[in-house]
Parts: sequence; C-alpha cells; structure tokens
Amino acid sequence: MKVLNQKGTLRGEIRVPGDKSISHRSIMFGSLAQGRTEVSGFLTSADCLATMDCFRRMGVHIEEDPADPTHLFIDGNGLRGLSPETDPVTLYSGNSGTTTRILSGILAAQRFTSVIGGDDSVNSRPMKRIMDPLSRMGAEIESIKGNNCAPLQIRGRQLKGIVYESPVASAQVKSAIMCAGLYADGPTTVIEPVRSRDHSERMLRAFGAVVEDQIDPQTGRNTVTVQPCRELHAHAVTVPGDISSAAYFIAAGLIVPGSEILIRGVGINPTRDGILRVAANMGADITILNRSNTEEPYADLLVKSSSLHGCEIGGAVIPSLIDELPVIAVMAAAAEGTTVIRDAAELRVKESDRIDAVVSNLQAMGVNVTAREDGMVIEGGSALQGAKIRTYNDHRIAMSFAVAALIAQGDTVLDEEGCVNISYPAFFGDLEKLIANRSSIDLQRSNKANKSRRMQLLT
Ligand code: S3P
Repeated sequence: MKVLNQKGTLRGEIRVPGDKSISHRSIMFGSLAQGRTEVSGFLTSADCLATMDCFRRMGVHIEEDPADPTHLFIDGNGLRGLSPETDPVTLYSGNSGTTTRILSGILAAQRFTSVIGGDDSVNSRPMKRIMDPLSRMGAEIESIKGNNCAPLQIRGRQLKGIVYESPVASAQVKSAIMCAGLYADGPTTVIEPVRSRDHSERMLRAFGAVVEDQIDPQTGRNTVTVQPCRELHAHAVTVPGDISSAAYFIAAGLIVPGSEILIRGVGINPTRDGILRVAANMGADITILNRSNTEEPYADLLVKSSSLHGCEIGGAVIPSLIDELPVIAVMAAAAEGTTVIRDAAELRVKESDRIDAVVSNLQAMGVNVTAREDGMVIEGGSALQGAKIRTYNDHRIAMSFAVAALIAQGDTVLDEEGCVNISYPAFFGDLEKLIANRSSIDLQRSNKANKSRRMQLLT
C-alpha cells in the first residue's frame, strides 16, 4: 500500500531508465550473435532481468559492469549455440509478455525442448497469436493447460518460411515470427494491419540480418520480410530512455500547474512517439531538443504545464502509444472537454485489463468516464478526488494513478506499489525528487521574499 499525498509543481531535470523493448531485444540478439555485444543504458527492471535469466539458463555468459549495472557484456553463443542446463529446459518469464512471446519464436527453432511460462498475469494472456503462426512454420508448440495460454511446451524443429497476415498490430507477435524466420528454410513475411514498434527490425539489421519492411500507402498495412540467416554478429547497443516511462513525467508536467521538466535522452522512434503527437493535439507545450540521428533516435523533451483540451485518439496512432494510454487517460481527465479513445481493444489483454482498470479507478476519483469494448470516453475538466486505487499489480496502472494523485484533492492510496519494479523500479523516488525541486525552488523564493521583507523592516 502506498499513500500519495504530495501535491504541486514539478520542476527540474530527469533521465528516465532505458527502454524496456530495446533492452529485451539487446539480450536476445546479443545472446544469439557471434562475439561480444556491449549494451549501455540497459533497463535493470524485473521484466528485462527475466529475459537475462532465461538466456543465462541457456548457457549464455552475460556480465554486468560492477560499477554500473546498466552496462552489460554479452558473450553470444551464435544462432545455433544455445546450450541449456537441462533438456527440457524450464524458463520463467515473470510478468513479461515480451519475454514469453519473442522467446517462443527463438525456442521454436532450437534442437532442445523448452517449457516457458510466467506469473498468473502472463499465464492468462493470449498466446494463440504466436502459437498459430509458429505452428504454421512447423514448430511443435503446445499450451500445457490446453487454454491457449502459457506455460507453453516448445519442441524445436526445422522451420519453414511462411507469409503470415497477423490480425493484430503486435510487435511481440511480429518479432516472434521474425526470430523464427532467422532459422527458416526460406524468407518469412509478416503483414500487420498497422506498423507496430520496429525495434526488432532495426536491431536485427544492425546485427547483420537481412530485413525489409514497407508500408502500403493506401491501406497502411506493414509488410516485413526476414531472410534466413547463417549468423548474427555482435553489435554495440545504446539503449535510449524509455518514452513509456517518460510518459508519466510528460503527463505530470503538463497537468500540474506551474511545472517545467526537462526529460533527457528519451527514445523518439516514430513507432513509439504517439504520445507526443496526441499531446500536441491536446494543446501541450512540449519542445523537442537535441535530436540524435542514431539507430534508435532520442531527444530531450522540455515539458511545460499546459491547458489541455480533449481529442479523438484512434486508428494508426494506437500501436505507437498503446502502453501510454492509461496515463493519456489521466491527461484527458485533466483536460477540458471530451476525449474518445477507440481501436484500442488490445488494452484488455495487457498486464491487466487496462480499459476496466483505468475506467474504474478514474470513476473512483470522480471522473465521468465510460468504458467501450475498444477504448473509453472521458469527460475531462472536473476536479479529481483522492481515492483508493486498485493497481491489479499492473505497473502502468500504478504509475498512471500516481500522476493522477498529483492533481487530486486529498490522499490517493495505491493498494500495491511494488509492481513498478516491472519497468521502473526508481519511479516513486524520481517523482518525489521533481516535487522536492519545486519545494527547494519555492523555499529559495520564500527565503528571498522573507529576506527582502526583513530588509524592509530594517530600513
Ligand atoms: C512490446 C510490444 C507491445 C507493448 C509491450 C512491449 C514489445 O505489446 O505493449 O509493452 O517490446 O514488443 P504487443 O506486441 O502485444 O502490442
């Protein structure tokens, strides 16, 4: 349980931890490459550590810099060199859907048998979306409980290349198929209805794989083709700050009056920057500074509090902000007017049902909000009341409502706060520091004011 009762302006500079999606992939591709991959800016959160542990169990040597745990060295085993402690090997993916799904694509092509599963949340999320295409490639993949969920038993097989039309825009599904495709006997193509995050495409190319992707300008459909690969080659990975973690400070900076925050080194890959586009539509004052021109682009974001207005959020932008929608809903509650979120049914199968979680918690805070099958309608502009928040053990729900608490009257109580360890272990400390900056600035100001008052009295 955590009581949130600090209010007021947020000021100062912050650097958020490394991108979760890119950190997972750095371990996966570094482990499968030949040679030593150096990773800087790695996210040392529970999800990424679960991926690291899985590869260590399959014989990969991963060394952490004792002076800086975000700096790693991975001695890759090569594409066909994974050597598990036991056969079958049991792999634990914790709360991480990304680990479970992408790793399944790799395991489908190995010469050993694996069982992969995680906590209750992961084990209730849909896996048919990867079981179907991987089975079509020739994998033997079975849901142990027969419910199309993890734990999955995967017997590695020689795979064949396929053309797969995915019904969902999911980077986890796309990446699982792409990873399996590295081992296939011919090219593998995934077509998705809208382009999802393209970190696998970028990183696999950097590791030497042949990957082509193209968006159909008429339909917006994205086609990605990966060629069979003999070997990946080690490549240094610099992980930018996670825009999904920066999102909480973007939202807080915008909705708390008088705030000004500089967020350093945030990944702004165009398949992830939807929150910036939606915030601009809502009237946000965000300046993008010092853009890099790197494999994964990043920039500094200067966020100033703004009068927001509601907007419509749907269509092709959804995959680029899917993880940010809970905190965007909080922004919408603080904005004037109505916000409609649609085409986001995927929110129902995340770490929790994020439509129900957001709607019920916003309602508890006094917001007029209604759930829809694929999103929600939020009437913004009324004062938020502190409330008891159910996080459903979902890190993004906990952090989103910690932001809502900043503008609520009275105390807000999270039923559980440890879940932030999934993606952002230092979240509460970082938030408090920004509030503390405000206090020290205000303190300096009031000290100055007191001093000048004293001077007036003396003269
Ligand atoms: C991720 C893809 C997204 C996202 C998740 C991370 C990834 O999931 O929600 O947090 O790293 O590929 P989907 O692929 O299910 O949309």
